[in-house]
Amino acid sequence: MARPSPKKPARKSTSTARRATASEAVTRQPRRLTKPQLIAELNKDLAKEFAALIQYVQHAAALTGPQYGAIQAELVVHSNEEHLHAISLSDQIDFLGGVPAVAVGDVHISPDSKTMLELDLDGELDAIARYKERVAQAEMLQEYGLRRALEDILIVEEEHARDLQDALEL
Ligand SMILES: [Fe+2]
Ligand SMILES: [Fe+2]
Repeated sequence: MARPSPKKPARKSTSTARRATASEAVTRQPRRLTKPQLIAELNKDLAKEFAALIQYVQHAAALTGPQYGAIQAELVVHSNEEHLHAISLSDQIDFLGGVPAVAVGDVHISPDSKTMLELDLDGELDAIARYKERVAQAEMLQEYGLRRALEDILIVEEEHARDLQDALEL
């Protein structure tokens, strides 16, 4: 009989429970939506992209510590990529017959550099979960162009999460 596999060594824990990795980001059971409901959800995603863009600009400037030099430059790249996501989502919302919103979601800042990166990672894990759900919803509505655009965004959010996990040595 196969022996139970040995437990993996505990990872370095963060202040609370162990943080989920990008690949473990919660997969929500996708809710079936109408097209107007999907447009509303995409507009919420858009507000979070604008917030992420701003948060990365602030963190890239405010982050301190020699160990964070590489990730500091990377945060500027992330900011630019969140901007591209906002453009892509706006185009898709318009294409679906909606009006792209200009609301900005909550921006999370901290005086502590490590906390900044943890806040950024929380945002990325949330984005990964949201876009996984959104890809499935686009598929249900047979909006294949939208699905492709969302998949492209999802790939980049997964890269962002990995960059932050590396910097946090998770
Ligand atoms: Fe993004
Ligand atoms: Fe991101």
